[in-house]
Amino acid sequence: MNNKLIETGIEGLDKMLKGGIPEKNQILIAGGPGAGKTLLCFEIVYRNAKKGIPCVFISMEEQPENIIRNAKETFSSFEDIDELIANKLIIIDGQDPTSKLMDSPDAEGYSFGSIVSDIEEEISKNKAKIIVIDSLSMLSLILTDKIKYRQSLLSLISNFNRLGVTSFITYELSSGERNNLKFSKDFFLFDGVITLYQSGQEDRRMLLTEIVKMRGVNHSYALVPYEITSDGFKIYSID
Ligand SMILES: Nc1ncnc2c1ncn2[C@@H]1O[C@H](COP(=O)(O)OP(=O)(O)OP(=O)(O)O)[C@@H](O)[C@H]1O
Ligand SMILES: [Mg+2]
Repeated sequence: MNNKLIETGIEGLDKMLKGGIPEKNQILIAGGPGAGKTLLCFEIVYRNAKKGIPCVFISMEEQPENIIRNAKETFSSFEDIDELIANKLIIIDGQDPTSKLMDSPDAEGYSFGSIVSDIEEEISKNKAKIIVIDSLSMLSLILTDKIKYRQSLLSLISNFNRLGVTSFITYELSSGERNNLKFSKDFFLFDGVITLYQSGQEDRRMLLTEIVKMRGVNHSYALVPYEITSDGFKIYSID
């Protein structure tokens, strides 16, 4: 039984997870636009890199420089981001699937295969233990055939498991409201699903998070408010 836990390093979230995420679990971070998916994954990477764990962050949509700039701007108390990048504990890589798609005569198979092999090479080269893919949407744009998409997703996840990495993959929900949440079939493929909701509250939005599933963990089922602050995510869980 594998019971080694990967702490997210975010206090309230680790509390909800009763310590952390079982190593080699593959996790979906799902939320509406601007809910904080990218920043949450960045903080998990940052907290683990600080403990000496090499982490790879693959950005499918934004340029790596933008990810770093936004993270520094939001998390102004994280003063050692550049140092962790220089020491290769945080590796931020950009993938541009659209160019791969256009270069490829046989778009679907080739481009997905080459994206995956680039990612795996990055993991092996850096002996990474944690990988972020931000976000899954690009892959669904490449793999328009639903069956091929699910097969490829499943093979991506099982390869991560084989490589011994724990992954956090962001996923866009069409609505940030919990009431409108539709469980996607993709949710079933992952070991864990954490959702970030934004609910409209009269004059201001309210941010809430929930652990929908986490295999192997007797996690909290509470709907918990959170905030994004200059010191990182504050997740207000209660026991
Ligand atoms: N300094 C800050 N203080 C509070 N909230 C902030 C701060 N900086 C950014 N945010 C919030 O974080 C959000 C952006 O976070 P992030 O980029 O992680 O969201 P996302 O879910 O990845 O969005 P997208 O769907 O566009 O990829 C902003 O919309 C804003 O609400
Ligand atoms: Mg994002």
